[in-house]
Amino acid sequence: MNFVRGRVLGREFILPFTAVYHLNLRCNSQCSWCSREEDMRLHHSGGVDITKVETILRAVRRLTPSLYIAGGEPTLEANVSEVLKLARNLGFWPIVLNTNGTLLDRRPEVVQLADRIIVSLHADTPAKQAAILRVNPALGQKVFDNLLWAARTTGRVAVNCVLTQDNIEDAHGVLAFCLAHNIPFAVVPAVVGYQPAIATASPDRIEAYRQFVGKVMEAKSQWPRAVVGTMSYLQKVQSLDGFDCRPSGIITISPEGKIVNPCSFKYREVPQTIGVANGHESIEVQLRRQLDFSATHTKCPGGNCLKMCYVGPAMALETPAQSIREFLS
Ligand SMILES: C[S@@+](CC[C@H](N)C(=O)[O-])C[C@H]1O[C@@H](n2cnc3c(N)ncnc32)[C@H](O)[C@@H]1O
Ligand code: SF4
Ligand code: SF4
Repeated sequence: MNFVRGRVLGREFILPFTAVYHLNLRCNSQCSWCSREEDMRLHHSGGVDITKVETILRAVRRLTPSLYIAGGEPTLEANVSEVLKLARNLGFWPIVLNTNGTLLDRRPEVVQLADRIIVSLHADTPAKQAAILRVNPALGQKVFDNLLWAARTTGRVAVNCVLTQDNIEDAHGVLAFCLAHNIPFAVVPAVVGYQPAIATASPDRIEAYRQFVGKVMEAKSQWPRAVVGTMSYLQKVQSLDGFDCRPSGIITISPEGKIVNPCSFKYREVPQTIGVANGHESIEVQLRRQLDFSATHTKCPGGNCLKMCYVGPAMALETPAQSIREFLS
C-alpha cells in the first residue's frame, strides 16, 4: 500500500511502518553529537508507569507491529523488562532495543526479551569509547564486556557505529571487532543540523570516510549478513547524496505518548506534537488530520539525514527489485 502511495501516486506521506518509542529522555552518557541532546536537556524525563506505557503501546500496535525502543538510555528505566514483556504480549514483532550498552549487565533479562539489541559502539578500545560517551573508562570497558556477553548469550545483537570525522580510524577497528565476533555491523554518519556532519569536513577526511564506507561495502559483498542495511543504503552513505525521504514512514512517540512531528525541518507548518497515543482516537486519524495525505512528494529542502531508517525505505521505493533481491540474499 505504501509502495502504491509513495512510488505510483508520488505522495508525500506514507503510513508508518515502524514506531520508535522513546522510553525516556535521560541518559548516563553525553555523546557530543547526540540527536536527542536538546530533548533531554529541555525535558530530562524518566519513563512513565507501566499502565500508561500499556495505553500508549496498545494505540501504537493498532498502527504497526514493528517497535523500536530507544531514548535517552532505555536501560536506565527499572521497568524496561516489563515494557518488553508487554510489547511481546501485545503482539509486536520485531521488538528492537537500542542501547549504549553500559548497563546491560544490570538488566541481563533485556537481552532475552528483545528480538534484537542494537549496541552503539563508535570506537575500538574501551578508553576511546568512554571518551566519546564522556563517561569513566570503567563504563567504556562495560560496553565491550556487555556486548560480547550479549552476543554469546543470544546472537541477536548488532552494533551501530556513528561516524564523524574524528573516529574513522577507530571505526575500522569496530568493523574488524564485529567481523571477528560475528556481530552484524551497522554504520551511520553522525547527523547534526539535519546534515551528515562529515559533509563539511576537509577533503582528506571525506576521502577517509568514503574509503571506510567502501570497506564496509566490500565486507557486505563477501558476507552479506555481516553488515546491516542494503548495498543501496551504503552507496548513499558513501556518496552523501540526497534521497527521496519520506519521514512519516517512521512514527516517533515520546515517553508520555506524544506523537512527534515526523520532521520538523521539512514540515515547519506542522505542530511539533501532532497528537497523543492515548487510545481515545486512533493515531492514524490524528496523523491524517495534521498531514495532508493527498499532497505530492517534494524534495527535502536542504536536509539529507542519511539515517538508515529513512534511507532504507526510500531506496525500497526507488529500486524495489534490487532491495527485495538484497533482502532475500
Ligand atoms: C539517541 S540514541 C538512544 C539509544 C542509546 N542511548 C544509544 O546511544 O544507543 C539512538 C541511536 O542513535 C544514534 N545517534 C545518536 N545521535 C546521532 C546522530 N547525531 N547521528 C546519527 N546517529 C545518532 C546512537 O548512536 C544510537 O545508536
Ligand atoms: S548514549 Fe545515546 S542517548 Fe546517550 S548521549 Fe549518547 S547517543 Fe545520546
Ligand atoms: S532528509 Fe530531510 S525530510 Fe528526511 S528526515 Fe532529514 S531533514 Fe527531514
